[in-house]
Amino acid sequence: MARLNTNLALFDSGIGGFTVLNRIRERHRFFDFIYLADTARQPFGEKDSSQIRKIAKEIIQWLNMYNPSAIVVACNTTNSLAIDIVKDLSCCPVFELISTAALMLNKKNIGVIATPATVFSGEYSRQIKLFNTRASVFEQSCPLLVPMIESGEITGANIKSILWEYLSPLIDKNVEEIVLGCTHYPILMPVLRELLPPQVRIVDPAIGIANKIDELADLSNFSKNTAPLVGNTRLCVTSDPIGFAKRSRSVLGHCPKVELVSLLSKACFL
Ligand code: DGL
Repeated sequence: MARLNTNLALFDSGIGGFTVLNRIRERHRFFDFIYLADTARQPFGEKDSSQIRKIAKEIIQWLNMYNPSAIVVACNTTNSLAIDIVKDLSCCPVFELISTAALMLNKKNIGVIATPATVFSGEYSRQIKLFNTRASVFEQSCPLLVPMIESGEITGANIKSILWEYLSPLIDKNVEEIVLGCTHYPILMPVLRELLPPQVRIVDPAIGIANKIDELADLSNFSKNTAPLVGNTRLCVTSDPIGFAKRSRSVLGHCPKVELVSLLSKACFL
């Protein structure tokens, strides 16, 4: 039986993966976390498959250096185009968003909003239909959202009108559930809720990931009583640590300490 220690590794291109980190950390404050944002190559969602796969390889090789007890793919774009690489190279269990999200859905008309690369992969439609053959899945590419969220534009008329452009084709299809197929998008939850009809359920795959981590933690021998009250969270970026620390405030609630790292210099020791 897998034993989950306290050392979880997460990665994304930027602050989006914090929406996953927060969900896990609110339940497991005693875990240690290492979070890597490959800010130098953000946004991933505009890149082609071979670039995304190369980045995934370098990220996993780097994370392996820290001997994590599990890796959480806090990036749908990597999940959709490079999960085979992530699983092949990881030395530990891997938690993935897309298959997790597919199990959280139970309606017939399903919308997915995601990056251009994720939509291009068709992975959400494929995995949702594996579990629900009757489902009609409508995927909407949202190229402007990640750059806007990273630049701090998360409220106001501009983001609202852009989101409306993306959401209205899905509303026209009478979707009953909308999956947030990019980890940056839960940051827009107040605007999303305002724009979507109340009966449309918003599905954040991070909640499913946190549930899966709960199950594994229950199976492990780890005792909450003997653990320190709060674990360490180490935040690493590949460029602009100061800017990243400032941007993190909107999701973490404070301006954290951020380390600048080089993936290639670490990877070459493997
Ligand atoms: N937050 C990531 C995702 O879930 C990546 C976004 C990007 O860099 O384009 O896809």
